[in-house]
Amino acid sequence: MTKFSTYIKRMFRFVIKGESKTYVRIDSVKQGDLLLNKNIVITGASSGIGYAIARKCLLENGNVLCVARNSDKLIKAVETLKAETKSDKIKYLNWDIADISMYKEKCHQAVGILGGRIDCLVNSAGITSPLNIENCTPDLWDEIFDINLKGLFFETSEFVKHFINQGTGGNIVMIASQAGLNAQTRPYALSKAALIHLSNGLAKELITYNIRVNTIAPGPTVSEMCVVAPDGNLQGDGRGKRIFLPEEIAETALFLLSNTSRCITGEVITCNNGNSIRTDAFS
Ligand SMILES: NC(=O)c1ccc[n+]([C@@H]2O[C@H](COP(=O)([O-])OP(=O)(O)OC[C@H]3O[C@@H](n4cnc5c(N)ncnc54)[C@H](OP(=O)(O)O)[C@@H]3O)[C@@H](O)[C@H]2O)c1
Repeated sequence: MTKFSTYIKRMFRFVIKGESKTYVRIDSVKQGDLLLNKNIVITGASSGIGYAIARKCLLENGNVLCVARNSDKLIKAVETLKAETKSDKIKYLNWDIADISMYKEKCHQAVGILGGRIDCLVNSAGITSPLNIENCTPDLWDEIFDINLKGLFFETSEFVKHFINQGTGGNIVMIASQAGLNAQTRPYALSKAALIHLSNGLAKELITYNIRVNTIAPGPTVSEMCVVAPDGNLQGDGRGKRIFLPEEIAETALFLLSNTSRCITGEVITCNNGNSIRTDAFS
């Protein structure tokens, strides 16, 4: 809870500097067992949004397999998650999803680590770049698409086969971006637009297998990708716009991963305070 003195300090700062600031309290769905007995693979779980989703899943009693490519960072993240959540239902797998030679073997390993059954897949691994058609190079294009789309596509295809063979359904949550819904020429945005198309197509093709596929399209969110003022001010550029917290995205992911959203598939949920329906919002 924010202390009264904090409000007073913020009020003085506003009076003296004349700047509005944005701070956010996380209101959290707290039941404790929303993901009990669910085996969940999360790519990009070593930082940012993926990390926050892993944390939320552990707090809701899920069994979590964290995936990322930088081994030291991944191990450190897993140790911190264990300490923060007091849960030991966490495992990790070092996997560069852009390495297409590995996806079958790595998926097989993931299934093994989780005891032969996977219920949910969260695809959060991704990279970004501000470069657009004016300055993007073919190498950068390949790097972005190899991770954000091609790697994700083949890794997901293998998990889908597993879900189908398993015969118990499945649940996939994709982390796209509001950039994938806006008119842009950044390869990053194009990769996310394609991801949204892929998610919707998958949702349609997999309904009969009881496999749900939903997408979250966050606005700018505090992470290694998007740094925020050290004092926690979440004010973005311009009036009324703000930067989001990974925990806010994780709350939506929790809803989609849990059975409370059993009747929802093929949806794109924007977590961006209405940026997509504003004409003055940044991308
Ligand atoms: N932050 C934002 O403003 C924002 C807004 C909209 C959408 N998103 C999307 O949200 C997702 C998560 O981003 P974030 O903000 O949480 O950024 P982040 O803190 O940089 O996290 C990215 C995660 O992806 C992993 N990763 C990257 N390339 C990988 C690869 N080839 N194989 C395996 N893991 C890989 C990273 O691990 P390593 O360090 O080991 O590579 C890290 O765990 C991304 O898909 C991003 O596009 C972010």
